[in-house]
Amino acid sequence: MAQVLTVVSGKGGTGKTSVCAAVASCLAMEGRRVLCIDLDVGLRNLDLALGMQEQAVLPFTAVMRGEYALEQAAAHPTIERLFLLTAPVTETPESIGEAQFSALLAQAREAYDWILLDAPAGVGRLFTLSVHAADEAAVVALADAGSQRDAARAAELIFAEREIPVRLIVNRVSPKLLAGTHLTVDDLMDRVGLPLLGLVPEDAEVTLASCLGVPLVERTYRGAALACLHIARRLCGQRVPLMKL
Ligand SMILES: Nc1ncnc2c1ncn2[C@@H]1O[C@H](COP(=O)(O)OP(=O)(O)OP(=O)(O)O)[C@@H](O)[C@H]1O
Ligand SMILES: [Mg+2]
Repeated sequence: MAQVLTVVSGKGGTGKTSVCAAVASCLAMEGRRVLCIDLDVGLRNLDLALGMQEQAVLPFTAVMRGEYALEQAAAHPTIERLFLLTAPVTETPESIGEAQFSALLAQAREAYDWILLDAPAGVGRLFTLSVHAADEAAVVALADAGSQRDAARAAELIFAEREIPVRLIVNRVSPKLLAGTHLTVDDLMDRVGLPLLGLVPEDAEVTLASCLGVPLVERTYRGAALACLHIARRLCGQRVPLMKL
């Protein structure tokens, strides 16, 4: 029976898709069967972050409507146990029926160990739909005040809908940034009001991997990739100390 994690942010561009792809890859490499669903309807790019842009991938809406079977979800070419349902490009968020989506997830829960939902930016319809479907949430924020405020708002909106565990991922952290702002990790958690799931360092490999169309974890085991492995292990209940930046 799968655990469903939604990856949200409030503010756009904080790294939801990059982190979602790397954590999903790590969960699969740790032996779990993982289904990623790109919920960024109209603006999908989880396939790029997973290095699956050259593959035929099905939109989750086609499976929802019964046009294809869930078993036809695209398998990752090099990472075993990792599967993707992409977002439709020409449909609108308003056209996604919540009952049909939850029926798709009920079926997927039987076939996978983890289902990761890559939510779009903002707190619109698909954010809410993902929150309704999830067993837990990860809010991805940067260390700047605007991103942290939006993360706090996203967390508030999640708690208004559901009583699920919600944890914070602070992305693109660097020693220079923490020193320059005099912020500690505790300050970051306090500002958003959530417990920490992980810190992901600023790492040029994240953008490079996506530009080259290869999964981050196939380029490096250090930096952001290692941070995402730690996040994957924490999600599975292991105690992993925070990495030194
Ligand atoms: N840890 C990191 N270090 C360096 N660059 C990063 C890191 N994480 C993400 N990025 C870069 O930040 C940009 C935005 O990342 P990404 O697309 O994952 O964000 P997003 O939150 O999914 O965006 P959107 O809200 O548009 O869906 C990309 O260019 C990505 O390569
Ligand atoms: Mg994204």
